[in-house]
Order: sequence, then C-alpha cells, then structure tokens
Amino acid sequence: MSFVIAIDGPAASGKGTLARRLAAHYGLPHLDTGLLYRATACALMDEGLPLDDVEAAVEAARGLSLIDFDEARLRGREMGEAASLMGAMPAVRAALIDLQRNFASRPEGAVLDGRDIGTVICPNATVKVFVTASPETRAQRRALELASRGEEVDYAAILEDVKRRDARDSERSAAPLKPAADAVLLDTSELDREQAFAAALAIAEGGRMKA
Ligand code: DC
Repeated sequence: MSFVIAIDGPAASGKGTLARRLAAHYGLPHLDTGLLYRATACALMDEGLPLDDVEAAVEAARGLSLIDFDEARLRGREMGEAASLMGAMPAVRAALIDLQRNFASRPEGAVLDGRDIGTVICPNATVKVFVTASPETRAQRRALELASRGEEVDYAAILEDVKRRDARDSERSAAPLKPAADAVLLDTSELDREQAFAAALAIAEGGRMKA
C-alpha cells in the first residue's frame, strides 16, 4: 500500500530534517517542496525580472527542473524570502500542484514537506504532521544552519525574517500555512534533534498501523 507522509510547518521548524530522516527510515523518496518555490524565485532573479511578475513566475514554475539549480544557493536566506513571495501567488501555487501530486503518487509512497501538503497537495496522506517551534528557537536553529554554511549571521535579522515569513505564509489567501484538521501537532521547541525524530517516527508509525 502507498505510504504518504505529509510534513508541514513554518520556516525553520525542522520539518525538512524530519522529512529527510523519515524518508531514509522508510526507504521512501522525499520532496522538499520549499525548493520548488525557491527555484521559481531564483529563475526570475537570474533573468533580472521583478519578483511580482506573476506571468513570468508561472512560466518559471511550469518549466522547473531542480537539477539546474545550485542547492546551496536555493537554501540561502535571500531565496527563502523571495520564495515566500512566490508562495503568495495563487497562480504559481497552481502551476506547481501537478508536479507535487505526481511525486506523491508513486506506488510505494513518498514524504513531502512544505506548508500545504496535508491541506491541499495530499489531503489523503497516510500520516500528517504539523511541526512547530517558537520563533526564537527557529531563528536560533536557522542562524546555526546558515553559519555552518559560511553565511554571515545576524540573529536579530533572522528572527525578523522568521516572523515576517510566518505572517506572510499564514495570512495569504491561497493555501495559507495551517495544520490540517487531522494533522498531529509536534512542537519541537524543547526537543533536541534525536527527540524530535523519535517523536515524528512515533507519529508516523501510529498512522501506518491505522492505515
Ligand atoms: O520551506 P521553505 O522555508 O524552504 O519555504 C520557502 C518559502 O516557500 C516559504 O516561506 C513559503 C513558500 N512555500 C509555500 O508557499 N508552500 C510550500 N509547500 C513550501 C514553501
């Protein structure tokens, strides 16, 4: 039976790491859907186009090929902010739906992480987890992650980024960031990486048993 795990949550909640580890644990393919929005923004920037050009953004989203992008660049701070602008455009979201649903429909299943996986992309996912952590915890984690990649780190600016993206991602009208009614909430504020993974795995196992 197909086993689909949907992991949603705000910026820097740790959902990407959890999704990657769950995918490795179950031997399932993993799609970080934030990369799709980041790559769309990157394509516009590379063409020197403004980030509010909806038509160009839709075209970039339709023609996406992730292999053409440098992942380190996509994961940088600037691209996260630009991706949040892409995510606020309903036409861009629509252009990325098929790609995500196709990925989720592999026979063995898949793990997808993002903002609207459990609500819009895979409403019938076997397991839905909504990962949260306080803005301060997330900003600290993001600061450590950026520092480990050699980026310059300004904690106050990162905290501002996190809060601004939370507001934009939650308040937009198209597929806002919110837990699906049947998602299990996982607050990782007080958990280290191993504890967070153990908790996510317990949720996934619970869902798998019920399915
Ligand atoms: O998960 P991330 O930080 O890489 O996502 C970057 C931005 O992309 C996020 O702020 C909003 C947008 N996004 C989205 O709107 N829907 C998704 N499923 C994933 C990301």
